[in-house]
Amino acid sequence: MREKINLAVLISGRGSNLKAIIDAIKKGYLDKVNLRVVIANKDASGLRYAKEAGIPNHIVHRIVDGEKIPKEEHDKKIMEILEKYDIDLMALAGYDQVLQKEFVNRYEWKIMNIHPSLLPSFGGTLHGQKDALDYGVKISGCTVHFIEEDVDTGPIIIQAAVPVKDDDTPETLADRVLEHEHIIYPKAIKLFSENRLKIVGRKVIAEEELKTVFISNPMYHMKRIGVTEDAVEYLSEKCRMYTVLVENITPREAMILKQEMLSIGGDCAVPKECILNNLMLTDAILIGNRIQLKILIKNLKQQVFNLSKLGEELEMLIKTMGEKEI
Ligand code: GRF
Repeated sequence: MREKINLAVLISGRGSNLKAIIDAIKKGYLDKVNLRVVIANKDASGLRYAKEAGIPNHIVHRIVDGEKIPKEEHDKKIMEILEKYDIDLMALAGYDQVLQKEFVNRYEWKIMNIHPSLLPSFGGTLHGQKDALDYGVKISGCTVHFIEEDVDTGPIIIQAAVPVKDDDTPETLADRVLEHEHIIYPKAIKLFSENRLKIVGRKVIAEEELKTVFISNPMYHMKRIGVTEDAVEYLSEKCRMYTVLVENITPREAMILKQEMLSIGGDCAVPKECILNNLMLTDAILIGNRIQLKILIKNLKQQVFNLSKLGEELEMLIKTMGEKEI
């Protein structure tokens, strides 16, 4: 297996799953994936994501001069493109056409699809969420599976469950399911690209290992794993560490600062003479995240000496954070 797999994504519509895959590549989550080409069977709006990202894209029209061309003929044209790009994996993402036998056999276990229901329930349809809702299920979800000749029956790679709410409409349910599609599709592609999927009979065994990785874009990853928007905003403040140099305070003020910071989980670097020398002015370095600095500011405003003034200074500084770093 080569170092990076060559991926093709096939779409017919809005392309939100394509976007999730492109983002996952850009942010380094899919670091073993080359998205070589995006193919649509009509003028799909989702093609714009490929264009924006500079990814080669093709439309192979199914309807030519008002007439549908035979599926086999259409498949053949697609296969020619896939050959040209030396494709290892194909991801169908809202592709509304059933691939024919020859295609499926040629790319056995190299074609994935995402379906908006917990298969085998509500398969073989383009409105799985509505059917699930009409049926009255309490849990819906989505499935990434390999393609075999029959529709929506291939071995299941990953599924995500989504609780149905009493007041759900097909649209609200579809939106919540879609959020999970954007999580599990890139994950399934990642497992494939790392050669960690084994097909045993009808079962797909995913060799997942516990691991830890340093990340430089925590907000992307929080969204990627499904953290709620409010929590992403709050937690992103915790991810931002700040070090602030405070000049010309008394050693006593510096010690109070250190105590305040320690009490909220941050710290403050002070010179070792601080405890002994009460007369001369000194400097200190505050170490904390944005939330801790905000709490410190609130606490300092109630404090004695020059500390309430320092609270106001810090408040100004935090407002212009980023612009005023030295
Ligand atoms: C998704 O719900 C997918 O599960 C289904 O078609 C829809 C495509 O959405 N197969 P998008 O084009 O990726 O936004």
